[in-house]
Amino acid sequence: MRNIVLCGFMGSGKTTVGRQLASLTGRRFEDTDELIVKNTGMTIPEIFEKYSEQHFRSLEREVCARLASQQGLIIAVGGGALTFAENVKVLSATGDIVLLDVPIEVILRRLKGDATRPLLDRPDRENAARALYKQRMPLYKAAAAFTVNAAADAKTVAQDIMKALGLFSQ
Ligand code: S3P
Repeated sequence: MRNIVLCGFMGSGKTTVGRQLASLTGRRFEDTDELIVKNTGMTIPEIFEKYSEQHFRSLEREVCARLASQQGLIIAVGGGALTFAENVKVLSATGDIVLLDVPIEVILRRLKGDATRPLLDRPDRENAARALYKQRMPLYKAAAAFTVNAAADAKTVAQDIMKALGLFSQ
């Protein structure tokens, strides 16, 4: 059974929608960020600060490859994961990539006051987020087999994904 891989910008709801989708389909949910935190015993900001973004990306690559070697999972990937061709290649070989499409204005509202994303931990936070969003959306779109409008609540988005993929609730 193919995996379902949820991608999208930070704050697009990958984890929340992923959990909802897992509960509707009875499948197991995995989240690349959560696995990295669990495996290292460090938070993501700590990994970026103590080591580097590059180190985080290499941990992320390992986790993507490990998850791609399994079947039937619902996988939420961190917002940067699918900007790397190697991760797209392994994950799309065994899974259907779904883009959670959320307008930047909604994302900015959701991420207000968030301190868990090191890439946005800077004084020009809003402009940085807008620039990154503009740069990444075309990459997400190219990687995804399906795109769903994900500005709605998590349950509606999960149900839309099920419809798009022809899945049924168990
Ligand atoms: C990142 C997104 C984060 C996390 C890390 C880097 C990114 O995940 O992987 O902070 O490059 O967009 P979320 O998309 O779950 O916030």
